[in-house]
Amino acid sequence: MLDLGGEYQLFADEIRAAIDTVLESRQFIGGPAVAELEKALSSRVGSEHAVAVSSGTDALLCTMMGLDIGHGDEVILPAFTFFATAGSVARLGAKPVFVDIDPRTFNVDPVKIEAAITDRTRAIIAVHLFGQCAEMDAVNAVAARHHLTVIEDAAQAIGATYHGRPAGALADAACVSFYPTKNLGGFGEGGMIFTNDEHLAGIARQLRNHGESQRYVHERVGGNFRLDTMKAAILLVRLRYLDEFTKRRRDNAARYNALLDKIPVTTPYVPAHQKAVYHQYSILCDRRDELRSFLQERGVHSAVYYPVPLHLQKCFASVGCRRGSLPVTEQICDRILSLPCHPMLSDKDLRYVASGIHEFYERLVPTCAATSDTRGAAQPRSVNLRQD
Ligand SMILES: Cc1ncc(COP(=O)(O)O)c(C=O)c1O
Repeated sequence: MLDLGGEYQLFADEIRAAIDTVLESRQFIGGPAVAELEKALSSRVGSEHAVAVSSGTDALLCTMMGLDIGHGDEVILPAFTFFATAGSVARLGAKPVFVDIDPRTFNVDPVKIEAAITDRTRAIIAVHLFGQCAEMDAVNAVAARHHLTVIEDAAQAIGATYHGRPAGALADAACVSFYPTKNLGGFGEGGMIFTNDEHLAGIARQLRNHGESQRYVHERVGGNFRLDTMKAAILLVRLRYLDEFTKRRRDNAARYNALLDKIPVTTPYVPAHQKAVYHQYSILCDRRDELRSFLQERGVHSAVYYPVPLHLQKCFASVGCRRGSLPVTEQICDRILSLPCHPMLSDKDLRYVASGIHEFYERLVPTCAATSDTRGAAQPRSVNLRQD
């Protein structure tokens, strides 16, 4: 699914030089690299403040701590996301309230949000899954009607745009991840909070450093949520390659769309007002697990993000959902498959993957072409929905 070794060869010298600079400075915490990364990313995203932290998870945690979300509060979010989105809510003692997703975009369905609001609701987390923004205008409109805070979980979406505006500047606050597999992946854990709210940014800065307002003066209880200098310096190098790598991912996705056009799978749907960054290129398919094994036998890796929706995880049993509570999410979990889409793939690789899928449906499952459906009941059968 990734070729981190191949990528590294492209910028190995620059990375080594960046590491040497940090080693020579002997400043391993904070320092100019962290401030420079915050500045570079806040201006790229178009957000007034950026606060570098230790991971995407800690970005979510810190943001919600900064908003005083805790016991007795509810936070609305999709169940089709990585665990951290909901885990951070639960760790603060608040209740994650799971709502269903749009079957075409896999992102939170704004219509479902409204029905889930109670007088305990404090915030909505809109996840930009697979590198494609949630329908933020609709999400923000619901939030505004009910005076709720909106947090973007943009962990997978750095570089994505919505009506031309970058992910990370579409709500009250946004959180990104620099986990090594992310589009802007570091060499270790890392994350960042974006916000235009000066007060929230100030609190987040304190929280990442044990709540210190000045040396040994603690206004609140925070944690060690700092991003190491070395990681920041490496990320600054990786950042130079982000646009090129994003372009390659988009090109790969466009190529897959064409190659899979006549195959009975559903390719990603990207509304015209959005530009995705294809952190994952995910299709919907019948007989998913058999297809996966078939591809694996041919040396093609694929992945299932996510096989078990969060509302059905044991640790969230107390939330009160059961199978059937979120039918779209559950159906998507059974049919989703992510194909390799990373920047180091060649056209030959993409053709090889697509031909494997073609072969599976042609030879092994000849009936599938007739039975395959598409995203969303309202859509005609066997039509690949996409407008990039
Ligand atoms: C949607 C989503 N939210 C949050 C996170 C948490 O980020 P991290 O792994 O950096 O803690 C991730 C990444 O793994 C993610 O994909």
